[in-house]
Amino acid sequence: MRSFTLAARWAVTLVGAALSARAVPVPTFHKDVLPILQRHCQPCHRSGEAAPMAFIHYAQVRPWARAIKQSVVARKMPPWLAEAGTGEFQQEHRLSSAEVATLAAWADGGAPAGNSGDAPPPAQFSSGWTIGQPDLVLDVPPAMELPAAGTAEYIYLIIPTGLKQDRWVQRAEVHPSDRTVTHQVLAFLRPPGSPWLANYEPGVPFVPKRGGGDSNDTAELLVAYAPGRPAAVLPGGQARLVQAGSDVVLQFHYTANAKASMDRTQLGLIFSPALPQQRVMTIAASNTRFVIPPQTDNHRVDAQITLQHDAELVSMMPHLHLRGKDFEYRAVYPSGMTETLLRVPKFDFNWQLHYNLARPKLLPRGTRIECTAHFDNSANNPANPDPQAEVTWGRRSSEEMMIGWLDVAFPATLDPAKVIGPEKKARPGKAGR
Ligand code: HEC
Repeated sequence: MRSFTLAARWAVTLVGAALSARAVPVPTFHKDVLPILQRHCQPCHRSGEAAPMAFIHYAQVRPWARAIKQSVVARKMPPWLAEAGTGEFQQEHRLSSAEVATLAAWADGGAPAGNSGDAPPPAQFSSGWTIGQPDLVLDVPPAMELPAAGTAEYIYLIIPTGLKQDRWVQRAEVHPSDRTVTHQVLAFLRPPGSPWLANYEPGVPFVPKRGGGDSNDTAELLVAYAPGRPAAVLPGGQARLVQAGSDVVLQFHYTANAKASMDRTQLGLIFSPALPQQRVMTIAASNTRFVIPPQTDNHRVDAQITLQHDAELVSMMPHLHLRGKDFEYRAVYPSGMTETLLRVPKFDFNWQLHYNLARPKLLPRGTRIECTAHFDNSANNPANPDPQAEVTWGRRSSEEMMIGWLDVAFPATLDPAKVIGPEKKARPGKAGR
């Protein structure tokens, strides 16, 4: 009796499996795959953008079906490095398990096109300003000439804003003209009187000299460009202060793309018409004093910053160079409780991502933000330029950095020195005055 029941159940299960296998048709490109590609892949996989191949039409995508399955199952694409479960973020570039399953089943099922009548309308992408018409456009003179090959170093350029009065920036966008070679552009603010990079002439691109242990690289970040990353748009009531007479320091990272190219980047700013309620400012937990021994594969470096006033955490952006391995942000609250804010278990120099919280998080006065990074300076790290080197802080990509950037919001009329405390007073804008 018992064995009969088991056998019967087994048979039922088999029939059920066969039925459901028949009941679930192979997904098709037009109906099932294209909507996923439009939303999660086409921002980079279209002509003129960062990815080397376009995923718009069936004929373009079909040869990549296997590679697409592999890249999404391994969670290599779309690039999103935050570990699931720590923090909720805006524009999270993570496919749902159902979306991964659809792409995998499509590839496994022979990658059929299906009926083109099922296709959604083509996704619209703007090639102009996504923030709207800027109030101020800063042109980068001259157009940057890029070599066809070779390791692309960070290139810096200082451009004066020409602002005669303090302005509050609500939206900002970096607009490279050649996105196929532009890997990242960071735009920092340099207030008047800052000693940061004071030896370099504005308007002339330069690669900084080796070394330079000064910590002014933790200057305020205004906006960044990276493939697929949205422009900086603050909600109503929040803005960033740009002091009269400030310069913008641009840091370019180009990918040598086996073709010589010219890039002419622009920076667009839209100002808040009135004094905002909250000032948003980038602060940093950074460590400039580390020494990474040669041939070590898990060297730990810590940094921290303590908030001297209540503030809201808006976003985080870890920054390491080629030996960066992982990064974690923790908040240690005045109550003693510790919360992990962001974990990037596999840091990737090529994807310096910015993580905007879905909802701002209150960090009460006295909260300590702790950051921990590990570096792989061994020969097993394929990105490592030199495992024999003892590595210290520096602006070149062959040197290292350890910065946990944080955007925080606080009352606009409050002196920022009251938020970040005395230990960070040596920042540009405070120093040299
Ligand atoms: C933020 C930009 C961006 C997004 C979004 C993105 N890709 Fe990519 N993708 C790239 C770039 C750049 C490369 C080439 C460099 C590399 O492989 O890292 C690439 C390479 C690839 C490759 C070839 C890499 C390999 O494993 O051989 C595949 C396949 C791929 N992407 C699939 C996808 C799919 C599928 C999506 C959407 C689910 C997607 N990508 C979303 C930028 C992006």
